[in-house]
Amino acid sequence: MIPDHLPQPVEIAREVYGAGFPSLHRYVDILGSTGIEWGVLGPREAERLWDRHILNSAALSELISLESAVADVGSGAGLPGIPLSLLRPDLRVTLIEPLLRRSTFLTETVGKLEISDRVEVVRGRAEDHHVTYGIVVARAVAPLDRLIEWCNPLRAKGGVILALKGRSATDEVAAAEGQLDHARLSAEVLSVRAHRDAERATVVRLGDRSEDLG
Ligand SMILES: C[S@@+](CC[C@H](N)C(=O)[O-])C[C@H]1O[C@@H](n2cnc3c(N)ncnc32)[C@H](O)[C@@H]1O
Repeated sequence: MIPDHLPQPVEIAREVYGAGFPSLHRYVDILGSTGIEWGVLGPREAERLWDRHILNSAALSELISLESAVADVGSGAGLPGIPLSLLRPDLRVTLIEPLLRRSTFLTETVGKLEISDRVEVVRGRAEDHHVTYGIVVARAVAPLDRLIEWCNPLRAKGGVILALKGRSATDEVAAAEGQLDHARLSAEVLSVRAHRDAERATVVRLGDRSEDLG
């Protein structure tokens, strides 16, 4: 049952998700119960699921074009891949997660949410997965220099990597200069949000350098 009066981030999510909101609510219930029992999410996260996890994940949507194939590297409890898939049923999403307990949680959750037609779970490390995607997303997985090593081979020609980062984004871009040059990637630090009243999320977008295009 969804209560009538919802706290503000939940109200924002209801507006953002529209018809997808009941499934999203179910996902948040799963995160707050099984997710915490299984240890795929820390117990303190229960209080901040809607703003810190759901709306932060959903903020990526505006950077993802229609019907993209999306890889979520180091998906953990399904973030940001599951909130993105519930918001954007046009996407085909692959959740890549090496740990058994987390990948089992993901497979069960995808089944419960009835989204297995568009969301696939791959148990393994990004560097052992040899498929390419138009969009590669990652949240709270590794510093940018290591993410480039893991994610760039998964990026299709012309594709982009979207790394959800905190305040360290600009410093991480500077620290990764060598890898960016080696991989011939451009980097932009963007600020996006899922809704005008939602908190902003910082994203590093990595893609082909303009001189290499065409
Ligand atoms: C801190 S968790 C973040 C999970 C989720 N993205 C989130 O925002 O809550 C980092 C995840 O990356 C996964 N991971 C670590 N090394 C990885 C690799 N080489 N390839 C793919 N995933 C990896 C870990 O197993 C873990 O679940």
